[in-house]
Amino acid sequence: MEAIKNRIIKSGTVNWKSFEFIQPDNFKDLSDEAYKKLKESITKNNFIESFKVWKDGKKLYCLDGYHRCKVLRNLENEGVEIPELLKADFIECSNKDEAAKLVLVYSSIYAKITNEGLLDLMNEYNLNIDDLGTFIDIPDINIDKIKQDIILAGQTKEDEFDPELPEKPKTKPGDIYELTSGKGMIHRIICGSSSDEEMYKKLFQDEQASMVFTSPPYNMSSNLYSNYKDNLEREEYINFILQVGSNIKSYLIPGGALFLNISYNKNAKSEYIDVVYKFMHELQFNLAETVVWYKKSGLPITNEKDLTRYFEYIYCFSNGNLEIRVEKNEYDLFAVLVDGYVEIVNKGSRKVKSNVWEIPVNAVQYEDLKACFPVKLPAEGIKLYSNPGNIIFEPFLGSGSTLMACEQLNRKCYAVELEPAYVDLSVKRLIKYVVGENQEYILKRNGKEFKF
Ligand SMILES: C[S@@+](CC[C@H](N)C(=O)[O-])C[C@H]1O[C@@H](n2cnc3c(N)ncnc32)[C@H](O)[C@@H]1O
Repeated sequence: MEAIKNRIIKSGTVNWKSFEFIQPDNFKDLSDEAYKKLKESITKNNFIESFKVWKDGKKLYCLDGYHRCKVLRNLENEGVEIPELLKADFIECSNKDEAAKLVLVYSSIYAKITNEGLLDLMNEYNLNIDDLGTFIDIPDINIDKIKQDIILAGQTKEDEFDPELPEKPKTKPGDIYELTSGKGMIHRIICGSSSDEEMYKKLFQDEQASMVFTSPPYNMSSNLYSNYKDNLEREEYINFILQVGSNIKSYLIPGGALFLNISYNKNAKSEYIDVVYKFMHELQFNLAETVVWYKKSGLPITNEKDLTRYFEYIYCFSNGNLEIRVEKNEYDLFAVLVDGYVEIVNKGSRKVKSNVWEIPVNAVQYEDLKACFPVKLPAEGIKLYSNPGNIIFEPFLGSGSTLMACEQLNRKCYAVELEPAYVDLSVKRLIKYVVGENQEYILKRNGKEFKF
């Protein structure tokens, strides 16, 4: 029987400056652009891949690492400190012809990265295309095209923001902000209670929302809020959420979807069941879907009676029959990215959308902001049941994740938040994001231009 043998004799350190090369200088063409990316990659990622070498008597031939050595030499000339000894794998070769054959083998690229595969990887691990684009160079992958595809596929990213709540917020109860981003999205945030109908009149005037995505306080008896009591009596809590639901109903278009993320906790074990029941039977919402948000982690609960909660429910109600008005379903587009081109294909090859959304919460856990959504969570709902340009309503804005998803997906966000400090934080977060995208913006508070 044939067998595979190990030709890596050993690994060790070598003086990379003593290398000899088998390949001629013109063996591979490294464009200025590609050289820049390789240099950027080495600077950013450091030395992460051992050289492949063949020791022939006193000579040390480098079989894989020609251009890396070139970059290292130039970096050293620029004053960058490079270790003299770097790691290498010693490969068994009987002569120079065999070594030359290996130079070709090491230069071969067998599998091709696909655009869709790259998008999936970036999505799962929060990789940022702007960052990657500066140092990866993959044949057949056109970064600009990928950026286009990301927009088409409705991908979002987790933005970095300052999670500190201001002690003396600039926002006062009743303030209304309007931020117009460079993309022309007009977002409105009002500081007040979403159980108060007046807030809706001021926010919406004669408009309506196409969709709602929200998570109310959980009545968990937390001390996270300064104006809101997170420890209401059972009936009082249920009625409060119901009042908000009733207000939402008046400002949600017929057929519009309402995503309500509400679950249980130690202090309120079953209130969410009453809320869901009453939304259906008192407010006459239809229960269209039940989604499980699998967070992949939870605050560890170490007592013997309770389980650590790794998931939460998201109920998707509809105002009348759910109408999916998505003209071009972004999931379809995502499913049919073929070599970077969007193709409309038949239903058989559609990617199906499951009711378990696996979105890790780790990336967005801040000490003071315990219930902060990952941006990707509201984004999932928004992509499913709304179109670009639509108004998405968020009655419990918190740190502004729904607002961020709206800006990234070209939707307008109208929002209510009771705590002035959270309003400050969300407005500043949006400004930081918009500025980071090199966009202009106009911010108005109570109708007048305002600077934060
Ligand atoms: C569960 S948090 C929402 C977190 C949000 N999804 C995020 O990503 O940060 C609930 C928010 O509702 C706010 N809130 C509490 N009572 C409110 C009310 N009556 N009207 C509007 N907002 C309220 C709280 O201040 C808190 O920011």
